[in-house]
Amino acid sequence: MFKILFIGDIYGQPGRRIVKEHLPALTEEYAPDLVLANGENAAAGFGITPPLVEELLGLGIAVLTSGNHIWDKKEILPYLAEHADGRLLRPANYPGDSPGHGIYLGKTRAQVPYAVMNLQGRVFMPAIDCPFRTTDLLLERIPPEVKIRILDFHAEATSEKMALGWYLDGRVTAVVGTHTHVPTADERVLPGGTAYITDLGMSGPYDSVIGVEKRSVIEKFLTQIPVRFDVAKGDVRLSAVLIEADAGDGRARSIQRLMRR
Ligand SMILES: [Fe+2]
Ligand SMILES: [Fe+2]
Repeated sequence: MFKILFIGDIYGQPGRRIVKEHLPALTEEYAPDLVLANGENAAAGFGITPPLVEELLGLGIAVLTSGNHIWDKKEILPYLAEHADGRLLRPANYPGDSPGHGIYLGKTRAQVPYAVMNLQGRVFMPAIDCPFRTTDLLLERIPPEVKIRILDFHAEATSEKMALGWYLDGRVTAVVGTHTHVPTADERVLPGGTAYITDLGMSGPYDSVIGVEKRSVIEKFLTQIPVRFDVAKGDVRLSAVLIEADAGDGRARSIQRLMRR
């Protein structure tokens, strides 16, 4: 059985620390063939820098996905442009000349080929290209021998995420949602063999509003005046899923939520 560990949005220094602390034990316990993570909030909640990409990949994460926050740290733009086949993805459905790319084709240490895709939703989010049609185009580019196909759908609306899950059922191994930073309890394997969860949840401080120090967020809602968002500190958790799939046909057999503190 092929095992994939997918870690939800790594939020700031607390998120990086909890992943560093728990990944060795998780790796020992579950022996994943592939470790993936969303890194869009690794740099103090907003974006990711080249040194942080290297730091997270150095922990044994094979590919980093991202989302709307990928553009926050300006130094990541030339990095994305220069690492055209790199292991940091941005959503594939940003307009054509945006730096970076949204699909990675690789092989595990045991030489099992896999594909990781990153798409972003459009409901309550920037009006980028259609994630459904863009995924169709990406799937055409994946060689038929690549059976393990994992997609991070970075989106706000549960309806859009579920719809993409059903749209891709039987065509990919897994559709996992990210972006809301709140883990959902709806993990399941769809009838066609696609593992699905609406949101992985955040790896970061849960004594917060989606990672941000909660007083400043409440202040913002009360006054509507822009405030500085600092990374919260308390109740740090790692949130992830473990997916088991048949490497022969790429169908998922199980998906389970994991949380560590
Ligand atoms: Fe995020
Ligand atoms: Fe996001």
